[in-house]
Amino acid sequence: MQLKIAIGTIAFMLAMMVFGYAALREPARLGRFINAELGRSIEAGGNIFANNCTTCHGIDGTAQECYDSSGNQIACQGLPLNYNALLCGDKSQRMTDMGWQGTKRNYVLSVVSVGRGAIMPAWAEQFGGPLRPDQVENVTNFVLNWESETLCAAPVVTYDWPETAEEFLARTDEVQPGDATRGAELYSVTYGCQACHGSLDGAAPAAIGPSLVNIETDGATRVEGMDALQYVYHSILFPSDHIAPECPTGPCAGPPSAMPANFGARMGEAPQDMADILAALLGE
Ligand code: HEC
Ligand code: HEC
Repeated sequence: MQLKIAIGTIAFMLAMMVFGYAALREPARLGRFINAELGRSIEAGGNIFANNCTTCHGIDGTAQECYDSSGNQIACQGLPLNYNALLCGDKSQRMTDMGWQGTKRNYVLSVVSVGRGAIMPAWAEQFGGPLRPDQVENVTNFVLNWESETLCAAPVVTYDWPETAEEFLARTDEVQPGDATRGAELYSVTYGCQACHGSLDGAAPAAIGPSLVNIETDGATRVEGMDALQYVYHSILFPSDHIAPECPTGPCAGPPSAMPANFGARMGEAPQDMADILAALLGE
């Protein structure tokens, strides 16, 4: 009898130890399960992104390198998504600029679902797009997964752009006089200005932003105290500071501007590009 009780007690204690251990490990197991789930979702989202989004947002989401379905390089029309201003911080710069009150996840999810403006399509089935709700979730997880310590530690702009174009062009130890031919190439392909603004000879019409064919004269009339050179220079670096009056589909929206705000960061890697683009636009 005594022995039975002793065995019973020991068995009970053993059982408690086993269950207790399992219970202790449960959060870790659950965590791994959620991570595996998220991992699968991000992977599926990566495929959706590659098949649907890279033509406008770029092969790595930075809106710098886009290809059409036949593999020809084309201008990127989308905004950068693999981008610290969109992804870093609980309330990212883009969320502040756009006056978004919800979470970052919902910001991305909602733009992807319903689309925005004339170019970014609605992707969710509920809004007439091609993607099921789980696919919209997956591609959203993929985009959000670009947030990393490296991305968020990188300064948004690495080059110290001076206030005025004149000061910039006077930095002759860093920039050569602008090369308009190279600038036209940067305008049409590398930075994709042409996709939104049309070609500089007017042959390809503007789609999203104003035509820049006459910017040499128009630019001088936009802002009191700014000549065309200063206006264009400032517009490239800080698109939201001054909103142009007329866009191809009606009055230009903003601020914030629909023009990407990361040219200052991108050209900061190669300031000569700015000088060449100014030359192409203004013959400086
Ligand atoms: C035909 C070109 C095009 C395609 C394809 C496209 N986008 Fe966009 N996307 C845009 C443009 C243009 C904008 C900027 C819209 C605006 O602000 O007016 C944009 C904006 C966004 C934004 C908001 C970015 C911000 O900073 O506010 C997200 C997120 C986004 N797109 C995700 C996607 C995803 C995911 C896909 C694929 C499922 C996709 N886009 C496919 C053109 C495109
Ligand atoms: C995704 C579309 C898009 C791209 C790409 C783009 N822009 Fe724009 N841009 C706009 C829109 C929309 C406006 C009008 C709103 C505003 O003034 O910010 C604009 C305004 C401008 C203006 C002022 C025009 C005026 O009539 O007052 C200049 C100059 C300009 N962009 C130059 C450029 C250059 C140079 C590039 C390439 C380095 C470029 N943009 C890339 C959309 C774009």
